[in-house]
Amino acid sequence: MNILALAATTSRQSINARLLSHAADLLAADILPGAKISFLDLNDFGMPIYSVDREAASGIPEAAMRFHAAIGAADALLFAFAEHNGHFTAAYKNLFDWTSRVEKVGAMSNLYQGKPMVALGTSPGPGGAQHVLNFVKTTAPYFAADVRASFSLPGFGDNFDVDTGKIRAESMVEELRIALATLGAPSA
Ligand SMILES: Cc1cc2nc3c(=O)[nH]c(=O)nc-3n(C[C@H](O)[C@H](O)[C@H](O)COP(=O)(O)O)c2cc1C
Repeated sequence: MNILALAATTSRQSINARLLSHAADLLAADILPGAKISFLDLNDFGMPIYSVDREAASGIPEAAMRFHAAIGAADALLFAFAEHNGHFTAAYKNLFDWTSRVEKVGAMSNLYQGKPMVALGTSPGPGGAQHVLNFVKTTAPYFAADVRASFSLPGFGDNFDVDTGKIRAESMVEELRIALATLGAPSA
């Protein structure tokens, strides 16, 4: 099983990238042993800000085509969403907007191409990126995502041990394991 992993942030100190790495370790170790996990870096997908005029003049940038192809080549998606002002980071929103233009099925954008997705999110505060996770859960299906589960880690500084790279409380790790295990279930 090929899993595409992305922390939807450009921060080099990303707490979501740390959570993603922990989740990927859990997946590969005992949930889906043998799974191949490929990490993308959002910094490799820089592009001009989306505009209809720019698209009409120059088409869709290569980076958006590359992101769409990476999703297409994966069996499942493990994305960790940083929350900026209740929403995607600007960099992910821009990549999302461009990539939403690559392929349509009927009237719907085929951005996520029917792939199973588990959405993770964390923040330093008590909210645990819940706003952006709720946004993903309610809207990603309109972009052909099969969102299987989400996992929010509030209070990153308290709940995540950066030295070991793991969530401290076993009850939270178990909650994450349950979310991750949904990626192994067959598609409906
Ligand atoms: C512009 C900006 C907006 C933010 N808005 C939110 C927010 O709405 N909710 C939240 O929980 N944290 C917010 N934060 C704090 C982020 O959760 C924090 O910076 C976190 O480290 C981002 O994830 P990352 O490290 O993976 O990039 C914001 C941070 C920035 C810089």
